[in-house]
Amino acid sequence: MIVKSAKRLRGKIRLPGDKSISHRAVMLSALSQGTSRISNFAASADCTSTLNCLSGLGVEFERETDQVTITGRGKRGLMMPSAPLDCGNSGTTMRLLSGVLAGQPFESVLIGDESLSKRPMKRIIVPLTEMGAEIDSIDGHAPLTINGHSNLRSIEYRLPVASAQLKSCILLAGLFADGETTVIETVPTRDHTERMLKGFGVNLRSTELPDGTRISITGDSELSACDVEVPSDVSSAAFFLAAAACLDGSYVEIPNVGLNPTRAGVIDVLRRFGADFEMRDESESGGEPIGTIIVKGGSSLTSSRDNTVKGEIVANLIDEVPILAVFGTQVEGGIEIRDAGELRVKESDRIASVVENLRRMGADVEEFEDGLKVGKSDLAGATIDSFGDHRIAMAFAIAGLFAKGETVIGGAECAAVSFPGFFEVLDSVIEQ
Ligand code: S3P
Repeated sequence: MIVKSAKRLRGKIRLPGDKSISHRAVMLSALSQGTSRISNFAASADCTSTLNCLSGLGVEFERETDQVTITGRGKRGLMMPSAPLDCGNSGTTMRLLSGVLAGQPFESVLIGDESLSKRPMKRIIVPLTEMGAEIDSIDGHAPLTINGHSNLRSIEYRLPVASAQLKSCILLAGLFADGETTVIETVPTRDHTERMLKGFGVNLRSTELPDGTRISITGDSELSACDVEVPSDVSSAAFFLAAAACLDGSYVEIPNVGLNPTRAGVIDVLRRFGADFEMRDESESGGEPIGTIIVKGGSSLTSSRDNTVKGEIVANLIDEVPILAVFGTQVEGGIEIRDAGELRVKESDRIASVVENLRRMGADVEEFEDGLKVGKSDLAGATIDSFGDHRIAMAFAIAGLFAKGETVIGGAECAAVSFPGFFEVLDSVIEQ
């Protein structure tokens, strides 16, 4: 894919449904009594992996463009799969589904692509084993063979890493446990699972502690079918927000974007650097805050009083670090991002991928174990390696808009993991 420099972005765009919410919507629907309708279901390859895995577990659904109608099988109705369940590139599919499968009275095998097979699974194996599931792995990596139990032991578990996938995995296993399962998180991570479990009628309580949040779920809860209107994905919006914020004269309107505060850290950070956002039509959909974002470009960007992004907010923008690093090349004083060591175990080592590609474009970058620092830089078109990672491909397509000359994104098709049609949507708003 070739990207040329752009003057500005102008237009109104509709973005695909939120990937995190879409995974959860179909998983919870599958475990419910009754029929659930999911609209604006993410077109992403990852969410298709979740649907395929559910199909392997005997779940029936109809999918028409972005509408999915699922016939729930109830908590005890999943069937033993006759073949390994392929999670593709999707960590959310593998980690959340493992929680569900830990509570099933049969054996299932979860496999993934080369990238997913390198990602750490010990973090879920430890608590699920404590709850009574038996899990074989290759030294903490997929393939995972899960021998579940329909009566797990409830546990109280303090999350050793800030991970919504781990939190969600344990809460889902908690649906199949005796008594009350509790997760304690000291750093707030995306709370879609908690919000949605409540929407499906599950008894879940969150209590604020001096040092974090205590989230408890009782194993006797049944789920009732629920229609879910999935908001557009703020992580997909982030590419357009950052690009339009930097390009003078831009005006981009994005309706129906999920504005859950545990996801919207990128908006706060861009605003800190002077990005001009207007929020309209703020409301709630399926227990999630949503709104229309209008971004006007360019002239208002300033050096932030503090150009460092670190601490708790990082968990609320963890998927947006690549685009924030690219954004940093366009602002006075650049940007420094720390406390983001988890990025080393995403779809690629995102710190290394971002640093390598920024250097290829001539930026002044320093790499840290837990982040990076990039100065304001004149970018030059270059050949970029997506490292097979969708967010790297999209972040560097935006870098290409800022660069002199042409930027070639190698392996750009991986954008479809979260956002099929990304390049067409981008094309529709570019003015050269
Ligand atoms: C996700 C949680 C985050 C995020 C991922 C989606 C989720 O991962 O990076 O893209 O849907 O729960 P971790 O839980 O590994 O931080």
